[in-house]
Amino acid sequence: QWTTSSIVDEQVARIREQIGDGKAICGLSGGVDSAVAAALVQRAIGDRLTCVFVDHGLLRSGERAQVERDYVAATGINLVTVDARERFLTALAGVTDPEEKRKIIGREFIRVFEQAERDLKAEGDYRFLVQGTLYPDVVESGGGAGTANIKSHHNVGGLPDDLQFELVEPLRALFKDEVRRVGTELGLPETIVQRQPFPGPGLGIRIIGEVTQDRLDTLRQADAIAREELTLAGLDRQIWQCPVVLLADVRSVGVQGDGRTYGHPVVLRPVSSEDAMTADWTRLPYEVLERISTRITNEVAEVNRVVLDVTSKPPGTIEWE
Ligand code: XMP
Repeated sequence: QWTTSSIVDEQVARIREQIGDGKAICGLSGGVDSAVAAALVQRAIGDRLTCVFVDHGLLRSGERAQVERDYVAATGINLVTVDARERFLTALAGVTDPEEKRKIIGREFIRVFEQAERDLKAEGDYRFLVQGTLYPDVVESGGGAGTANIKSHHNVGGLPDDLQFELVEPLRALFKDEVRRVGTELGLPETIVQRQPFPGPGLGIRIIGEVTQDRLDTLRQADAIAREELTLAGLDRQIWQCPVVLLADVRSVGVQGDGRTYGHPVVLRPVSSEDAMTADWTRLPYEVLERISTRITNEVAEVNRVVLDVTSKPPGTIEWE
């Protein structure tokens, strides 16, 4: 019988078989998938696992602190944080093509893990890299039989060809709801298990146009407001996620106070979904939309317009890039 505890037992056994008495690094993104993958591997090999949290500068407000504080408190995991903000910004300079961004981000993640592996050499041979790849990531990156490449998920199609690590991907056959159940079974707290999905490439694929420091700061502020208002309205469990997207190459004319503005629009993309393979746009209450719109246009200097994405998946994907 295919119960959650049998999934855990089977995966723990497989991980032990694959890693033997070796050591592993796990990239933690702050999201559910990598958190659960790490907890599974920790159960299998204990403190021969070291987690690496890469601050690539494409994170949302508060995310780094959440991983460093909450995840470590919940699991007692060994954690190394790498500040790679400069590195990612430099690598992304001038890049606007979505697939190119995804591949660069996937590659830079691996480069950071390789550096971490070298830094940890004194403590042993970290030959294995744990990733929280899910079944839908594999399918949509063109890894499933007869499927087209829709986008290169950073941890699948975005991997460099000269990868030095052996991958450990205990969630590769699972959907998100199963991953959440596995996380609960492993004793992870609700705040981690019920987190809404956030893509590994982060805000980098939510800025339509080139990724720059200023644009990241702008989007981070708008995103924090939208998340705060959705949480206050008690809607977190009803929506799958709500990307906020900055149309950085689009400007429109507005009026604020008694002056003309010429700022950027942000898009709200609230979606409801079971597994992210398909999605419907969420009918958010108008009062909530109004509060988000008013606050963003008042509080975020560069943004003078908030628009709502009312497209299902298909035809739209959840993320804009
Ligand atoms: P799309 O945009 O393909 O997104 O409809 C489906 C789900 O996957 C998330 N997503 C990613 N997650 N790495 C991830 O870990 C990625 O490269 C990536 N791209 C999209 C997205 O947020 C949504 O939940």
